[in-house]
Amino acid sequence: MRSLLLLLPLVPAVLSEAVNGSESLVWGAYRPNLYFGLRPRVPQSLMTGLMWFGTQNYQSISKTRHTCEQGDGLDSYTWTNYDAREGGIQIIKDSLNNVKLTTELLKVPGGDHGGSWAARIKGEPINPDIPSRISTIFYAGLDGLGGIDMESEENENGVDGPVVLTGSSVDLDEFTLRIVDGPDNSGVLNGAHAQAFADRSGKTHVAGFRIPPGTIWQAKDHILQNIIQHAQGVIAPYRDPSVGQPDPSFVLQLSDEVYSGSSLYAIQKFFDGPFQFDVFFESASAKQKLTSTTLEEGIKAFKTSYDTRFDKLFPIPPSYQTSKLDSLKEFSKAITSNLIGGIGYFYGTSIVDKGFAYEWDQDDDTDEQDEDDKKKGARLTEPKALLTATPSRSFFPRGFYWDEGFHLLHVGEWDNDLSLEILKDWINLIDDNGWVAREQILGEEARSKVPAEFQTQVPTFANPPTLTMAVTAFIDRLKALSPGPSEQELGLDFGMGSSQVVMSDQKPQSEIRSRYLSDPELSLGYLRSIYQPLKRHYDWFRRTQRGQIKQYGRKARSRTEAYRWRGRSKDHVLTSGMDDYPRGPPHAGELHLDLISWMAFFTRTMRDIAQFIGETDDAAAFIEVEKAILDNIEDLHWSEENQMYCDVNVDDEDESYHVCDKGYLSLFPFLLSLLPSDSPHLGPILDMLRDPEHLWSPYGLRSLSASHPQFGQGENYWKGPIWMQMNYLALSALHKTYAAQEGPYQKRAQEVYAELRKNVIDNVHKEYERTGYVWEQYDAKTGEGRRSHPFTGWTSLVTLIISEKY
Ligand SMILES: *[C@@H]1O[C@H](CO)[C@@H](O)[C@H](O)[C@H]1NC(C)=O
Repeated sequence: MRSLLLLLPLVPAVLSEAVNGSESLVWGAYRPNLYFGLRPRVPQSLMTGLMWFGTQNYQSISKTRHTCEQGDGLDSYTWTNYDAREGGIQIIKDSLNNVKLTTELLKVPGGDHGGSWAARIKGEPINPDIPSRISTIFYAGLDGLGGIDMESEENENGVDGPVVLTGSSVDLDEFTLRIVDGPDNSGVLNGAHAQAFADRSGKTHVAGFRIPPGTIWQAKDHILQNIIQHAQGVIAPYRDPSVGQPDPSFVLQLSDEVYSGSSLYAIQKFFDGPFQFDVFFESASAKQKLTSTTLEEGIKAFKTSYDTRFDKLFPIPPSYQTSKLDSLKEFSKAITSNLIGGIGYFYGTSIVDKGFAYEWDQDDDTDEQDEDDKKKGARLTEPKALLTATPSRSFFPRGFYWDEGFHLLHVGEWDNDLSLEILKDWINLIDDNGWVAREQILGEEARSKVPAEFQTQVPTFANPPTLTMAVTAFIDRLKALSPGPSEQELGLDFGMGSSQVVMSDQKPQSEIRSRYLSDPELSLGYLRSIYQPLKRHYDWFRRTQRGQIKQYGRKARSRTEAYRWRGRSKDHVLTSGMDDYPRGPPHAGELHLDLISWMAFFTRTMRDIAQFIGETDDAAAFIEVEKAILDNIEDLHWSEENQMYCDVNVDDEDESYHVCDKGYLSLFPFLLSLLPSDSPHLGPILDMLRDPEHLWSPYGLRSLSASHPQFGQGENYWKGPIWMQMNYLALSALHKTYAAQEGPYQKRAQEVYAELRKNVIDNVHKEYERTGYVWEQYDAKTGEGRRSHPFTGWTSLVTLIISEKY
C-alpha cells in the first residue's frame, strides 16, 4: 500500500477531477419548487419535470399539479428517503384525484459527465372503491446550447411502446432519455364515446415545442395550451347536448405534433387504476444501459443502506421516552430527507438597488460607495449560480442567507462534503465589498414566486451571520477524527515536533463517506480558500452595521463595539430575521442586542477558523474584538432595572434608553452561549424562559412573552409563534454550555433542557402526524402548525434535537 500512495503525486491530472466528490452531485431533484423536477447543477441545461391532472372531469386540468402549491390541497408530499448522491423516494398523496404517487430516483454513477439516473413514477388509488384516473405528463427541455430529438416513430394517433429522446449539450455531452411503461398498466379504454377514439386510446401522446432559450421553466403553460387547443378541435363535433361529451381522457390529450428543432418534449400517459412508468437518463460516456431491474434492485439497496446509515448518524437515544418510537424514527428520516431533497440549483440574474436607504440608515462614517453606485434604482446583476437548501418547497423555494447556516448544520451531519459544496457556492456570492444578499432570488423562475416589492436586495442590508456555523461544525468533525493538522501541514513550526494526523478508527470509512474528512490536506485547502472571502464578509459587517456610542454619552468599555441593523422600516426589521418583533421607533442612534450578539458569535467562529488554519495574528485580533463585544453587551445592553438584556434607543431629548420587550430578543447572549456559565444574568434569563406567563409553552419557547401587550397582535409573525431554529439555539446553549458546565444554574439548565427538548419534539411530530406537514412556526397557545408548509428548512432541525447533535 505504501508504494501505491507514493505513486499518487505522479497522477494528479487523473485525480484532480474526482478528488472532492462533486461529480456525484451533478444531478438531483434540484428543482424543489416542483413536485418532481430533476436537473443537473449546470446553468442552462436539461430540465425535467412531472405534471399530472385527474381525468374524472373536465375541470381538474385547471388544477394541474406541477409546482408545489399550498393551494393544490395535497394531503402531503414527502421524501421518505433522500440522499444527494444516491437518490430518493417520495410519496405524494393527492386525495382530490384519488391517487397516491411514488417518485423514485436512482442515481447511477459512470462516465465523465455527471452519470446517469433512472426514475420510476408509480400511482395507486388512495380509495380503491372509487375510480382513480389520472393523466401524467413528463417533460424534458434543453435551455442552452445543444439539441434534443425524438427517435420514436411519429404517429398522429400517439406512440406505442417506449418514447426515446436523444440529445447532447456542452456539459452533459451525449445522452439518451427513455420513457418506458410498466408491465401492468391499464390505459383508459372505456368511457363515453370510447369507440370513436379507439385509435388513440391506450397510447402515449407527445408534443415537441420550439420555445425560446431560458423558458423551459414555463413548460406547463406551453403544454396545457397545446392540450387545450387540441381538445377544442376534438370536442367540436360533440357540442350538441344530445350527443354528450366524450370521456375527458379521450379529449385532454397532447396533439402528437413534434416540430423539428424542438427544445421541449412532453410525454403524456393516461391511466385507470394502479400504474407505473420509468424514465431512464443514460449519459453516453457511461456506456451502461439501464433497465427496470437496475432501477428496482438499486432502489431496494438504496433504501436499506439509507436506513442503516440513518440509524447510525441520527439515532434516537434510548433515554428518550416515547410510545411512538417507530413513527418518530420515520418522521426524523422524512424531515432530514426533505431538507436534503429540498436542495435546489439556481442560476440567473438578481435585482439589486445600490442607492436605496432609509433616512435613519444614513450616517457619516459608513459612506464609502462610489458616486456611481449611489444612483437609486433597481438593476439586474450578472447571473450567478447557487446550490442551496430551501426553507419551503411551496413558499420559499430559493436561498435564504440566515436559514442556510442552520440548514448546513443538519446537511453536514448527513453529508459533510455536500454541506461544503453548498457553503462554497454561498461564499462565492460574497462581493468585493464583502456583502451577500439575504434572499437569493436568481433567475426568472425564482422571481416568479416573489412579490415585486420583495425582489430587490440592497447592499447595505445584512442578515444574521449564520454561515460560519457550518464552518465550525466542519472543523469540529475534523477534530473529532484527528487531533488536527500537524504544524508541518500548516507550514508552521512551533518547535514542538510535528504531530501525526491519525484517523481515529472509531468510525468506519463507509460511514464517514467524506473525502474532506479523510484528507486533511484537502480540508485545509478548502478552509484556506474560503477564509479570505469570509473575512471580507466579516469586515463588511463590522464596517456597515456599526452603531453609535459616544454620540449619546453612553458608557462602555469599548468605544467601538456597538451595532445597528440597517434597512429597518417603522414596524419591521426584516434584516434581523425577526421581521415584526417589537423594536421601538427607528433612530440612527439605536443599538440592536441581537446584532451585537451575532457579531460576538461571528467573531468567535472566525477566531476558531483562524486558529485552525494557522492564521495566528488574525486569531489574536479576533480574541480582542470578541472580548470588547462581550464587555459592551454588558455595558450597553443589560438593564439592571428590568433584569434583562435589551435594545437601546434614543429619546426626543437625545437621551439613550433601553427598549425591553421580553421574548427571543432578550435571550440572545444566552442563545449564542456568550454568557459565562456563572454569569449572574443567567438566572433571570432562565426565569423568563421557563415562565409560562412569558416564553414557556408546552410546545416550545414563544417568540414574544404571553404577557406582552403586543402578544399575538398584528401580523403575529414574531409576536408569539414558536420557531424551531430559535428553540434549537436555546437547546444547543443549554446542552453544550449551561447544562454541561459547572455553575450555579447547571441543575436548572439540565431540567429546562430535558423538558424543552421533549416539548419541541413531541409537538412538531404530533402536528406532522395530524396534518401531514412540517410547518414554518407553531401557535404560541395551541402548538398547532402555522403558515408555510411543508417547511422542511430549519424546522427539520428537530432531527438534530432528537439525536442531540448540537
Ligand atoms: C470540487 O471540484 C470542482 C471541480 O474542480 C469545483 O468546481 C468545486 O468548487 C470543488 N468543490 C469544493 C467544495 O471545493
